[in-house]
Amino acid sequence: MYDIVQDYYGKQLQSTADLKTSACCDASAMPAWLKPLLGNVHDEVMMRYYGCGLVCPPKLQGCQILDLGSGSGRDVYVLAQMAGPQGHVLGVDMTREQLDVAIGALDWHAERFGFANVSFKEGYIERLDDLGLEDERFDVIVSNCVINLSPDKDAVLREAYRLLKTGGELYFSDIYADRRVPAEMVADPLLYGECLSGALYWNDFLSLARKHGFGDPRLVEDLPIEVTDPALKAKCGTVKFYSATYRLFKLPELESDCEDYGQAVIYHGTVPELPNAFLLDKHHYIETGKVFPVCGNTWRMLHDTRFREHFTFIGDFSRHYGIFEGCGKALPYDSATAASGAGACC
Ligand SMILES: C[S@@+](CC[C@H](N)C(=O)[O-])C[C@H]1O[C@@H](n2cnc3c(N)ncnc32)[C@H](O)[C@@H]1O
Repeated sequence: MYDIVQDYYGKQLQSTADLKTSACCDASAMPAWLKPLLGNVHDEVMMRYYGCGLVCPPKLQGCQILDLGSGSGRDVYVLAQMAGPQGHVLGVDMTREQLDVAIGALDWHAERFGFANVSFKEGYIERLDDLGLEDERFDVIVSNCVINLSPDKDAVLREAYRLLKTGGELYFSDIYADRRVPAEMVADPLLYGECLSGALYWNDFLSLARKHGFGDPRLVEDLPIEVTDPALKAKCGTVKFYSATYRLFKLPELESDCEDYGQAVIYHGTVPELPNAFLLDKHHYIETGKVFPVCGNTWRMLHDTRFREHFTFIGDFSRHYGIFEGCGKALPYDSATAASGAGACC
């Protein structure tokens, strides 16, 4: 699969316009604060962008960031501006032609930003130890439309967990299927190269993430993929694809479900990009100044991470009130009690 993908992204595609589906160029709504940062990215880098979402979580000032499958470097150069001169962004990719564009633009961006905080390495995202990257090196790992292309997704998640600092996060956009993709589709080079048939069934992805220690994967946004090319559409049959952005925190204390400890948070509105509200994920839009009840896992995602100083925390873990309503699973048992006088076996 490596050869097929390298050939596709190195030789066959010359620009975003060559893609045959919308899978790798989803136009997610872009926040206003991001537009000027994109305006500082070189045209040639932009031309070879093949991502499927936005991978720019807030509050990256001073962070050590890794981009898995960085391609021509669009996201790296945006993240570099967010990280600033005290931070650093490393892009890793296996396709020489894509890396050449990214590396060729290093000096141009350093001059434009007024600082140099970017580097690129050629390598495989399943084997990051080959690049001498030590454990717990990064605050944030991002990836944009790449993990679906990996033949060993297990290794990618294992490596990401290893390389993250405790409290850090893997924030990434990728393609998912509504079922396990049939083998004949996986074997089709065009469907694979177009980021479709290598996609994981979404529920298998959640199991894989948990297996590697990412206790409570959080969905940030999602969008159905439209397969516009008639021949490709026919090959897909009834399988549906989605682009989705997840954030996976490395917090070993996260529980498998959202548990209610009677806790709440108040957002101060002080993350520079987010004055009015803090978006943790699709289900947690936390308005500035409002007391916002949270489950234990959400509390930890805000308290034990780089976001802590931006919140007031109410409560602790001393008393448990059951499953968190509307966040975790519902109580699986009927709440009606048996008629009085009935014995346990009746
Ligand atoms: C769809 S493109 C996305 C590129 C970039 N993230 C962007 O948003 O423009 C996929 C990229 O991932 C790289 N890639 C795919 N599998 C990889 C692997 N196993 N190791 C390293 N790079 C990989 C390809 O070389 C290609 O540049």
